[in-house]
Amino acid sequence: MNTTGIQTGPGTESGLLDQFGRRATDLRISLTDKCNLRCTYCMPAEGLDWLAKDAQLSAAEIRRLVRIGVDTLGVRELRLTGGEPLVRADLVNIIAGLRADHPDLPISMTTNGVGLAKKAAALKAAGLSRLNVSMDTLHEETFKQLTRRPFLDQVLAGIDAAAAAGLTPLKINAVLMRDINDHDGVDLLTWALERGYELRFIEQMPLDADHGWTRKDMVTAAEIREHLSTKYVLSVDPRARDGAPAERFEVRSPSSEAVLGIVGIIASVTEPFCSDCRRTRITAEGKVMSCLFSREEVDLRTLLRSTDDDGAIAQRWQEAMWAKPKAHGMGHTGLGDADFVQPDRSMSAIGG
Ligand code: 5AD
Ligand code: SF4
Repeated sequence: MNTTGIQTGPGTESGLLDQFGRRATDLRISLTDKCNLRCTYCMPAEGLDWLAKDAQLSAAEIRRLVRIGVDTLGVRELRLTGGEPLVRADLVNIIAGLRADHPDLPISMTTNGVGLAKKAAALKAAGLSRLNVSMDTLHEETFKQLTRRPFLDQVLAGIDAAAAAGLTPLKINAVLMRDINDHDGVDLLTWALERGYELRFIEQMPLDADHGWTRKDMVTAAEIREHLSTKYVLSVDPRARDGAPAERFEVRSPSSEAVLGIVGIIASVTEPFCSDCRRTRITAEGKVMSCLFSREEVDLRTLLRSTDDDGAIAQRWQEAMWAKPKAHGMGHTGLGDADFVQPDRSMSAIGG
């Protein structure tokens, strides 16, 4: 239903379709490029240039884009990302506004959990549906090494508070780095199973600001499965994957038939799922990125600030998505296509 009276331009009914027949229904908007951690697989130790405040989309601009996406372009799901969304002072207002416009839209957020304990209840009250919290280890020293900040206790407290506030099902994202936390997977899984959280391992992608990613240092999905199998029995979840990036596994102990929980593995590099991708991304400064690895960015901010014509914005967004690359080019075997080029933006500047 079109609740805003938007004039839909010709063709908006086809939604965010690309030339390979995929239709994006899952919108990820980055609320900020700033972050209070410095994860080595994402940020440099220091010295990323932050966006100026007025370069960033305002709460009203974000709300307008989501209205256009949901009301005219077939967006069915929203994820708020960053940088770290919690560093945005107007976060609760942004969520409340989105929820007022879209009472039934699933709205989730990816956060690093720092400062979450204080805000979880307010996020829930504003209308946030669910949270993904990134946490790569349960060891304070390893956490410091990975994130360059001593905040593990805050993250753990934030996760507890989110669960208590009902921001569930809660998902925990972990990236394993060779010789740093590659032996922490089993402990993380045990911890998540005990609490009823869905842990997901994400293969490290070449999206770090330092361009330090190497294929041989990447811990692959196959290695992660092998590592988890030292303590648990994994079997592919019989439920349909349905476009989800994570391959989900039922987890059992070797001595029992009972399913203890679910673990997901996101094998973006070695087992890419580009052919079934349903995502469209907007950066904090209002650029459409049709793919994490896209080198084309299409600006919507200028239109947002210069026209009342929502149809023109919808059309630009559609054009950007039409050009979505077929695949990221890292290669189906994980060996990499010769012409793969790492994008200039790091994950924090795109939005996970
Ligand atoms: N590879 C894989 N995952 C990454 N993230 C950030 N950078 C990378 C990377 N280079 C993850 C974060 C967070 C999510 C948004 O993306 O850990 O969970
Ligand atoms: Fe911050 Fe997330 Fe990047 Fe870590 S991965 S530095 S928490 S944006």
